[in-house]
Amino acid sequence: MDTPMLQVEHVQVRYGSVPAIHDLSLHINQGEIVTVLGANGAGKTTTLRMISGLHRPYSGRVLFEGEEIQNRPAHEHVKRGLSHVPEGRRIFATMSVRENLDMGAFGRRGDLKDDFEHVYSLFPVLGERQKQLGGTLSGGEQQMLAIGRALMARPRLLLLDEPSLGLAPMIIASIFQIIGTIRTEGVTVMLVEQNANQALRIADRGYVLENGEVRFEDSADALLGDDRIRRAYLGSDA
Ligand SMILES: Nc1ncnc2c1ncn2[C@@H]1O[C@H](COP(=O)(O)OP(=O)(O)OP(=O)(O)O)[C@@H](O)[C@H]1O
Ligand SMILES: [Mg+2]
Repeated sequence: MDTPMLQVEHVQVRYGSVPAIHDLSLHINQGEIVTVLGANGAGKTTTLRMISGLHRPYSGRVLFEGEEIQNRPAHEHVKRGLSHVPEGRRIFATMSVRENLDMGAFGRRGDLKDDFEHVYSLFPVLGERQKQLGGTLSGGEQQMLAIGRALMARPRLLLLDEPSLGLAPMIIASIFQIIGTIRTEGVTVMLVEQNANQALRIADRGYVLENGEVRFEDSADALLGDDRIRRAYLGSDA
C-alpha cells in the first residue's frame, strides 16, 4: 500500500504542563476527505495547529509524504504543500479581497493570474468583489476568501477548521459542495467540523475526538450509521 499523505503517530500536545492531546494517531491518504469530529474542547483545533506547525508536539511524530515535519517551522509546511484555513477565518479585514488572496501566495514566484482565476471560478462572488475590503464581506464570503487564500499556495493537503461555523444553512451547503469540488481537483482535505452530519456526507472517513483522544474511527458511512455517533453528535434529525 502507498504511504499515507499524512501520518500522525502517538502525538501528545501540551499547553504548559497540561496535555490537551494524548497519544493521537491518525492518517490521511492522498485524495481523501477525512473529517475530524468532536465536541467543544475535544482537541480538534489543537490537532490542526500541531499538524500545520503552529504548535509543536511534546512527543510523537508527524509525517507529510513520508517526511518528518513536527520540528519544522510552519512556513515550510506551506511550501511543502500543506495549507491551513484557521478557525474563525482570520482574513485581513483592512485589505481587499485581491490583496488577501495575494498574501496566500506568499513564497511563490511567477504569474499568479491562473491562480486568481481559479479561485474566482470556485467562488464567483470573490471575483465580483475583488476590490472590496475583507472586513466588509459577509461571514460566508469571508470563509470563501479564507479558503481561496489557502488555495493560492497550491496545497496538496488542505486543513479546514470548522468552515461552517456560524453560517446560514444555504451558505454551508455551498461551502461543503465546493470542498467536494476542491477534492476532485486533486487536493486532499482534512475537515474539522462540529457539523457532523454534513461533514460525514462529503467525507470518506472520519475520526471522533473526545478529550484529546480518538474515540471512534471508521468510514464515513459506518459513522453515520453508528447509533452511538448518532446520539452523541448527529442529533435526532440525522
Ligand atoms: N492556548 C491554550 N492554552 C491553554 N489551553 C488551551 C489553549 N487552547 C486550547 N486549550 C485547551 O486544549 C483543549 C483542546 O482545545 P481545542 O481548541 O483544540 O478544542 P476544539 O476541539 O477545537 O474545540 P472547539 O470546538 O471549541 O473549537 C481544551 O481543553 C482547551 O481548553
Ligand atoms: Mg476548535
